[in-house]
Amino acid sequence: MVISTTLTVNLGERSYPIVIGNGLLGDFNLTDYLAGPDCLVVTNETVGPIYLETLKSNLPPGGDVVSLPDGEQHKTLTNAAQVLDQLVSGRANRDATVVALGGGVVGDIAGFAAACYMRGIAFIQVPTTLLAQVDSSVGGKTGVNHEQGKNLIGAFHQPQLVLIDTDTLTTLPDRELRAGLAEVIKYGAIADLEFFTWLEANIDDLLGRNPDALAYAIQRSCELKAEVVADDEREAGRRAILNYGHTFGHAIENSVGYGEWLHGEAVAAGMLMAADLSGIGGDEVARLQNLIEAAGLPVSPPAIGAEKMLSAMQLDKKVQAKQIRFVLLRTLGDAYVTSDYDAGRLNQVLGKTNG
Ligand SMILES: NC(=O)c1ccc[n+]([C@@H]2O[C@H](COP(=O)([O-])OP(=O)(O)OC[C@H]3O[C@@H](n4cnc5c(N)ncnc54)[C@H](O)[C@@H]3O)[C@@H](O)[C@H]2O)c1
Ligand SMILES: [Zn+2]
Repeated sequence: MVISTTLTVNLGERSYPIVIGNGLLGDFNLTDYLAGPDCLVVTNETVGPIYLETLKSNLPPGGDVVSLPDGEQHKTLTNAAQVLDQLVSGRANRDATVVALGGGVVGDIAGFAAACYMRGIAFIQVPTTLLAQVDSSVGGKTGVNHEQGKNLIGAFHQPQLVLIDTDTLTTLPDRELRAGLAEVIKYGAIADLEFFTWLEANIDDLLGRNPDALAYAIQRSCELKAEVVADDEREAGRRAILNYGHTFGHAIENSVGYGEWLHGEAVAAGMLMAADLSGIGGDEVARLQNLIEAAGLPVSPPAIGAEKMLSAMQLDKKVQAKQIRFVLLRTLGDAYVTSDYDAGRLNQVLGKTNG
């Protein structure tokens, strides 16, 4: 039996539902959410062979498919152009819909192509990694990487629907599951102490892929993200709290070379560095550290060196007027954004990367 929950991202005329449940891929009629008869499914060479046929059973027959190569290194303008080429050669109209089936890489590319084609056509997110289900599919950020930096080319473009089939997580590699849990832990740490406490109690069930535990963690994460996005769609202010752990995390990813550390792994170590910089109580830092450790994620950064970390952080696209902005914790469960931080403390935190 398919059991599902529906949440809403409240953005006025751009509002959309997030439907979460098991077995939805083969059961949920997507036709109601298509803007017109034409649709193009974008997936990749890993996810397509497992889930494309099931998804297509809920789409009108005859739609097009683009299958991209797998991997962050393929999140390029060239691949977004491939999706656009397919729309052009299929003579897709303004009422065509792009459906993204895959992890965050597929979702970001497909969403960006949908944002560009005829200045914006409809798109639907069908995220299949935990990270994409709790984070990248919600909120309307789309884009691709440039040689000079991650996500440098992009657009805000909200989907019409986010369809989350929790059953897709059964085939997700363990390491990817854990990386997704880093973002789940992030939501607890920045905005919901009660959820954080729930995660502490249920981390083993989550790692064991208990469907009810996963469904709840995804639902609560999406609720928290939807609330923040509804308040500040274009990240003029508060939305930046979602980048908790990311200033350090991006610097780690950048410095060790993409692919060495998964994004979620870098964010996990980054969240602890940010907690240290926040100056919150040692018991609170210990709780965060224990949960990250229990999730099988790294609790300390690699030996990059303070200087290299600092210059990588200054390259981050979120740096404003040369001032690094950090997301810090007032307490566990309550984050804020600031460029007013303790420089001495930052040196200490970065010193931990000196190996
Ligand atoms: N737009 C946003 O708001 C936002 C937010 C966070 C992250 N992102 C982006 O998301 C990307 C990372 O996403 P990701 O972690 O999902 O990585 P990913 O898309 O690379 O997926 C990870 C791996 O899992 C495979 N996979 C996906 N679903 C699977 C399944 N059900 N079973 C088996 N294998 C499966 C993929 O093919 C890939 O090899 C980054 O590019 C990041 O910048 C975007
Ligand atoms: Zn992230």
